[in-house]
Amino acid sequence: MSEERPGADSWIPEDPDLPALRAAAPACRGCELWEPATQVVFSVGADSARLMLVGEQPGDQEDRAGRPFVGPAGQLLARAVDEAGIARGDVYVTNAVKHFRFTRRGARRIHEKPGIAHIDACRPWLRAELAVVRPRLVVCLGATAARAVLGREARIGAERGQVLDETDPPALITAHPSSLLRTRDPADREAGFAALVADLRTAHGAAGS
Ligand code: URA
Ligand code: SF4
Repeated sequence: MSEERPGADSWIPEDPDLPALRAAAPACRGCELWEPATQVVFSVGADSARLMLVGEQPGDQEDRAGRPFVGPAGQLLARAVDEAGIARGDVYVTNAVKHFRFTRRGARRIHEKPGIAHIDACRPWLRAELAVVRPRLVVCLGATAARAVLGREARIGAERGQVLDETDPPALITAHPSSLLRTRDPADREAGFAALVADLRTAHGAAGS
């Protein structure tokens, strides 16, 4: 870790509970992403949730609202969670990286994927969330989440939908809902949504919820 990007460790309170984590996150300067962002986007959900869903990073709308998954990808995800028969109260939703990374193009802010250095810098928050929520299973929504949770590269196509016990708690990789938003063909999109629902059902079953 460089001096400019020390990682989040020193902003994490000692022996925290969930409210303490949420209260501490706005002060984080673990990497440079805090500066152009509107605010930190932490999580939604209770520490009693049996499933933890991990996304990539907040998008434009999440950055403005201060809540994860409130934009189009979030609406798709909420539909998929419902269709999988999972109660909203049984999921804790967070992101691998807690600040929005973007480039400006005129008045628009264009999403830019977080780098491995940002994932690594922000991972202490995710680790702390895992420690306080202690979910039965973690769902990684896409490659960035998989990198953050598993600490390795993952191939979504080959590895999705399986309960992976290389971590404790076990993890399950699925596609990020925003990949569905980029799918133009309606039949492919429908199939992609069904696959997401199927993976969430598997996760739900494995979490014993
Ligand atoms: N995509 C993510 O990965 N996370 C969000 O919070 C919103 C969109
Ligand atoms: Fe801290 Fe993560 Fe935000 Fe970087 S992205 S400043 S590590 S909360």
